[in-house]
Amino acid sequence: MKIAISGKGGVGKTTLAALMGQFYADAGRDVLAVDADPSPCLAGALGFPEEQRSQLSPIAEMDALIEERTGAKPGTTGGFFTLNPRVDDIPERFSISHRGVRLLEMGSVDLGGSGCICPESAMLKTLFMHLLFRKDDVLILDMYAGVEHLGRASVDFVDAMLVVVEPTRRSLGTAAQIKKLANDIGLSGLWLVGNKVRNEADAEFLSAATPGIPLLGYLPADLMVQEADRLGEAVYDYVPSLRESAEDMANRLVEEIGARDE
Ligand SMILES: Nc1ncnc2c1ncn2[C@@H]1O[C@H](COP(=O)(O)OP(=O)(O)OP(=O)(O)O)[C@@H](O)[C@H]1O
Ligand SMILES: [Mg+2]
Repeated sequence: MKIAISGKGGVGKTTLAALMGQFYADAGRDVLAVDADPSPCLAGALGFPEEQRSQLSPIAEMDALIEERTGAKPGTTGGFFTLNPRVDDIPERFSISHRGVRLLEMGSVDLGGSGCICPESAMLKTLFMHLLFRKDDVLILDMYAGVEHLGRASVDFVDAMLVVVEPTRRSLGTAAQIKKLANDIGLSGLWLVGNKVRNEADAEFLSAATPGIPLLGYLPADLMVQEADRLGEAVYDYVPSLRESAEDMANRLVEEIGARDE
C-alpha cells in the first residue's frame, strides 16, 4: 500500500505521516517512510534519535550513484538509461530504521516533472519496489507543501493520496487545487483528512465544504502536539487523542484500499 500525504504548508502533513507510519509498523507491517520535503522533518516527528538522524544523507546526494547505476546523469531526460538499476545496497547506505519504520530522505528529487521518466525517478521507483515487495508493506510519502510537486511521476508512486486540511477556507482552496491536478494526471484514491479540529463547528465546516473528496477522518487540535515537538517526543507516543484518531483512519484506509483492489 503506497500512501502520499499532501496539503497546504503547515496543515499537519508530517504529523499525520508520522502517526500513520508508526501505527502500521506497530501493527507488524514493514513501513518505508519517505520525506520528500527539501527541509526534512519527518525523522523528528517519528522520534528518531539524534545520532541516527545525523547519519542520514538524502537520496538527492546520490547523484554520482544514480549516474553509475542508471548510466545517465540525474536531471537529464530523453537519453538512454536503465529502468531497473541495481539498488540492493542502497537501503543500508541511505536510510535509517527505528521502531519498525525505515526512513529515507529524498532531498530535492522532484516527483513533479511532466511525466518525466528520468534517471532519478527510475532509481526511486526501483528502490521502492525493492523495499516494498510484500502486499502488506506500506510506503508513506510525506510530500512538499502545495501543488507544484504533484506531477505525473507521483501517479506511479501512490495508491492513495491523503489531502490534509485545517478548518479554513485557504487550506480547502489548496485541497481543491490538488483535486483538480489529480484529475488531470489520472491519480485516483484521494481522501481528505481534517486536522486541528477544535469542535463540532470545525468538523461541520469541513464536512460541508469538502471539495468533492471523501473524508477519511479528523485529527483533533491538541496543544500537546506542540509540547511533544518541544520535548523531542513522537506525537504518536505523547498525544493519545491524535494517536487514536490516526489509528481509526489507518484502519479504514486498509479496508477501503483492500475493498477497491479486490
Ligand atoms: N492536531 C494538531 N493540534 C495542534 N497542533 C498541531 C496539530 N497538528 C499539527 N500541529 C502543529 O502544526 C505545525 C505544522 O505541523 P506539521 O509540521 O505536521 O505540518 P506540515 O503540513 O508537515 O508542514 P510543512 O508544510 O511545513 O511541511 C506544527 O507546529 C505542529 O506541531
Ligand atoms: Mg511537513
